Amino acid sequence: MPALVVVGAQWGDEGKGKIVHFLGRGADWVVRYQGGDNAGHTVVFDGQKYALHLIPSGILQPGVKNVVGDGVVVNPLAFEGEVRMLERRGIKVRGRLFLSLSAHVILPTHVYLDTLREEGGRGIGTTKKGIGPCYEDKVARIGIRVADYLDASSFRKLVRQSLKVRAAELTKVKPLKKIEAEVFAGYEARRRFLARFAADTGLLLDAARRKGARILLESAQGSMLDLDHGTYPFVTSSNPVAGGACVGAGVGPTTIGAVNGVTKAYTTRVGLGPFPTEVEGHLARYIREVGKEYGVTTGRPRRIGWLDLPQLRAAIRMNGLTSLTMTKLDTLSGVHPIKVCVGYRLRGKKIAEFPIARRDQLDVLPVYESFAGFSGDLKDARKFSDLPLGAREYVLAVERKLGVPILIVSVGQSREQTIVRDAKALWG
Ligand code: IMP
Repeated sequence: MPALVVVGAQWGDEGKGKIVHFLGRGADWVVRYQGGDNAGHTVVFDGQKYALHLIPSGILQPGVKNVVGDGVVVNPLAFEGEVRMLERRGIKVRGRLFLSLSAHVILPTHVYLDTLREEGGRGIGTTKKGIGPCYEDKVARIGIRVADYLDASSFRKLVRQSLKVRAAELTKVKPLKKIEAEVFAGYEARRRFLARFAADTGLLLDAARRKGARILLESAQGSMLDLDHGTYPFVTSSNPVAGGACVGAGVGPTTIGAVNGVTKAYTTRVGLGPFPTEVEGHLARYIREVGKEYGVTTGRPRRIGWLDLPQLRAAIRMNGLTSLTMTKLDTLSGVHPIKVCVGYRLRGKKIAEFPIARRDQLDVLPVYESFAGFSGDLKDARKFSDLPLGAREYVLAVERKLGVPILIVSVGQSREQTIVRDAKALWG
């Protein structure tokens, strides 16, 4: 059975957690392939809310096995905290969650470096979770992997080496000896905790694939935050795009059969950087309040904008999307008119594609098409035909303009509030 990749088609926070949770019912394995606890999903399951940052939302689905993959950066404290939270709430985790031995470990040093840079005038609005500095160490080949973390003597040696390399910056925070003590504090207990989950996850997934298991590969963040393809330098430090799924899960491209891109019915972004269709004022405040557009990880208010078709076309291209999911359509109820960006003007010239140069990304002016909008409560719609005519027209017009089927429409947080237009087409 070919694997399905679910990616964010915008700047993150598209509602992937809910969709992965929804699709998880039909999967045997759910794999997170990049990022760390910078991500945040709120998933509603059995009427209860769960905020997950690191562990795939497949964990809420009994029987589904979950992997935190090779490409993820893992803060052992966050990992343990999340496992304990789930267990406290009655979710069975042991035997269903596997942590890659190749994943890199986030230490307090990385959090200090992230915060130092953010607050020292070089900020891009990160989540200050140490994600960037951890990936930097990985690329600099001084990173510490889960396999190293589990080996106490390697771990101690590698920590001292990395402290030496980063000493000039770290001593601005506090004396190195103090930082070293913080890194080692509670280490033994955490090492033993992590050891229960650590595995060669590439091997596990390969065995599952050979047996015909359904594997769902879940990205964190969004395509426009991709290190290579996003709005650089206002990006995260990994590859959320579908190509990243192979690298970050340790599976080959031939494993993948389909890619679903999740987009809101409008656009949001947190952190700094270009956002061509951003709106401010009353409308932004209205959508932020109705859509509860505040970061799950940082609580920051999200920036709000209209749907941006050139941006989505770029996401379709860079991910090879075979289908789309549109979330939060209910939030736009009562908004008249609804605008959609169909192209840009750049210094007087019409352009159709999302530009690459950073100045162009800031300077483009959106060209909009308007839709009348719709009213009424969409939360009880379960079939596409239950939606008000204006809502259907909006979805169908976006689908037609993008040339990719919108197979799922979400009208609320809970799993039931999901309209699947063609379930068979999803997995390819
Ligand atoms: P970092 O990933 O913490 O290094 O932050 C880099 C950029 O990615 C910033 O603009 C963050 O706001 C953004 N970012 C990171 N994780 C998420 C997420 O899960 N949702 C939305 N934006 C995110």
